[in-house]
Amino acid sequence: MSNTEDPSHEQEISPNDYHTEIDKWFTLFINKHPEIYQHSVRVSMLAEKIAAPLELSVSETAQLIRGCFVHDIGKIMIPRDVILNRGPLDDDQWDLIKLHPILGAELLESCPGFAPQITAVVRSHHERWDGQGYPEGLQGEEIHLFARICAVIDAFDSMTSNFTYRRRLNISEAKLELLRHAGTQFDPDIVHALMRLSNDTLDIYSLT
Ligand SMILES: [Fe+2]
Repeated sequence: MSNTEDPSHEQEISPNDYHTEIDKWFTLFINKHPEIYQHSVRVSMLAEKIAAPLELSVSETAQLIRGCFVHDIGKIMIPRDVILNRGPLDDDQWDLIKLHPILGAELLESCPGFAPQITAVVRSHHERWDGQGYPEGLQGEEIHLFARICAVIDAFDSMTSNFTYRRRLNISEAKLELLRHAGTQFDPDIVHALMRLSNDTLDIYSLT
């Protein structure tokens, strides 16, 4: 029997094969959605900054940064015209967009090596503190801490960059907006941790 006919042989996938797969996804991600890739880099930078007031350990910080870097990886399966739509999305487009946390989590789960907390960030970064988010409607501390952190800094970056159709807010305006939604959309402890960071510390936008 040749190797290709032997079912047990088909199960043998080396770690290098998985790295090759991940490289392919990221190449697709960068080429298909460069704006989201740049957003992901900024959210990772913010993750490193908010880790200090949240008193995360070095290893927790590293995992948070990784999770934030891949939080929107599921969008590689969403059409570019939906991603680029600068106007309000219609119901069908919203239904598509709302699939990206599950699609991304399933993608990572297909590849050994991603810690569960990284997959949790991808799956749950659109859950809300009050249970009104998606995809599972989790609430409060049912949502993984790292996903709750990602939700805050993801929103902060979306408000302070040219990433969305809304008017770009300055850093003080974005902080106020987060405070307005602390305890409903966002974990209030995480919003207050971000408030302890100075505007200069949060200003990663003058670099771009
Ligand atoms: Fe997202």
